[in-house]
Amino acid sequence: MTTVVHTKADLAKARAALSGTVAVVPTMGALHDGHRANLGRAKAAADAVIVTVFVNPLQFRPHEDLDKYPRTLDADVRMCEAEGVDVVFAPSVNEMYPDGREGLTSVHAGPDGEILEGASRPGFFTGVLTVVSKLFHLTKPDFACFGEKDFQQLAMVRRMVRDLDMGIEVLAVETDREDDGLARSSRNIYLSEAERAAALAIPHAIRAAQASPDPLAAAERILGAEPGLDVDYIAVRGNDLGEAPESGPARLLIAAKAGTTRLIDNAPVVIEPRKIGDPDA
Ligand code: PAF
Repeated sequence: MTTVVHTKADLAKARAALSGTVAVVPTMGALHDGHRANLGRAKAAADAVIVTVFVNPLQFRPHEDLDKYPRTLDADVRMCEAEGVDVVFAPSVNEMYPDGREGLTSVHAGPDGEILEGASRPGFFTGVLTVVSKLFHLTKPDFACFGEKDFQQLAMVRRMVRDLDMGIEVLAVETDREDDGLARSSRNIYLSEAERAAALAIPHAIRAAQASPDPLAAAERILGAEPGLDVDYIAVRGNDLGEAPESGPARLLIAAKAGTTRLIDNAPVVIEPRKIGDPDA
């Protein structure tokens, strides 16, 4: 039986009634099978699971899709019930930010918050880290589950937990993909048939990058040849988001728009050492 609460006071009561370890899964709702994997990870890690459902206005810029972001609380609760979630916390904006958002004390993301997603969406990670830290204070978890699909977010949350001594174990959940390879996202429902066909260049580029000694060049080649995508960035970084290593394991990160829908994806890749005599070395 899942308890659904909308206020901090009711959450505090529901949290106090849980025994043993607790895992939190922060979400913006519109739960899909990708979230189901997060719920399963949380169940496996802890005695009790809290899911938060909150479309956080702090992480949307004025022209972004805050108003049209899908809100499907009844279906979300049904999935949580089916997955044995103990508590769903679904607060209103006013409950989360009772004094408004003007002048709000916030968690400032370090320089990693200004690259990739942060470069395209200024203030995004301050919005994410601020709400995640509030949700951590409210739910008091031992574990927190985040999908690898938002790889930079996962890395930034890990960093915040370390930097601010939050004492929470952050668990990463592998990206869940649809049958055609597209990473599951609440935003996929916005794609027309033609946009979705173009979006498939993203998983295609990932597969090519994973099979290539030069992952960046391989991904750029495929995405550059897809006229239906407006590529924002294709980058290879270290697994900690630092500069890409000369050789060895790294992360390929991609952001592109199909129509008006912004899609992100990422995957592990391996950079092969350049050989002496290699014309590009
Ligand atoms: O990944 C998300 O859905 C959101 O960024 C999060 C972590 C729930 C914060 O609003």
